[in-house]
Amino acid sequence: MIIRKFREKDMDEVEEIEREAFKRPYPRNLILGLWHINPNLFYVAEVNNKVVGYILGTLDWGNGHIVSLAVKKEFRGQGIGKALLKTLEDYYFNVIGCNYIILEVRVSNKIARRFYYKMGYKDRKLIPNYYDDGEDAILMIKKREGANGILIVSLW
Ligand SMILES: CC(C)(COP(=O)(O)OP(=O)(O)OC[C@H]1O[C@@H](n2cnc3c(N)ncnc32)[C@H](O)[C@@H]1OP(=O)(O)O)[C@@H](O)C(=O)NCCC(=O)NCCS
Repeated sequence: MIIRKFREKDMDEVEEIEREAFKRPYPRNLILGLWHINPNLFYVAEVNNKVVGYILGTLDWGNGHIVSLAVKKEFRGQGIGKALLKTLEDYYFNVIGCNYIILEVRVSNKIARRFYYKMGYKDRKLIPNYYDDGEDAILMIKKREGANGILIVSLW
């Protein structure tokens, strides 16, 4: 398995994984638009020349913001999500120098919440009615080791 930056030719495979993973997948033009703005914040995991997972981030008021992370069903539980997240975290914390990484996750998405707890994220705030089907989100955050300074989030 290798982790590398996203290339435009990966888009069909990423879209397929996004559709498999999420009830309300992000549209292709949104994903590509975010990549054009933040070309260093989009990584894919590749096995035998096939994309099996990806992570897409943005910058939100100086914080790293994870927009989407998904691994193809048959490749889950093998450390691929962890490797993708570590790659983006390293860029946020050690290249950009972000103090915080934030993300929103569905309250019902127990697997992802467990995954993020394991990766050092903490629940920060409930965001009622965040998703367009009415479900609440949990805002989760991870602080860079040794960072000081307050968290400013545009949603608040
Ligand atoms: C969340 C997701 C990306 C995790 O990817 P993954 O490659 O399966 O995760 P990893 O194998 O790297 O697991 C890392 C750690 O997370 C935890 N974890 C992962 N899947 C888990 C599960 N099904 N149950 C409990 N813990 C789990 C484990 O503690 C694991 O650590 P360990 O096995 O080394 O002890 C994957 O389940 C997925 O694509 N889900 C659908 C999309 C989604 O919900 N994305 C997040 C939305 S915000």
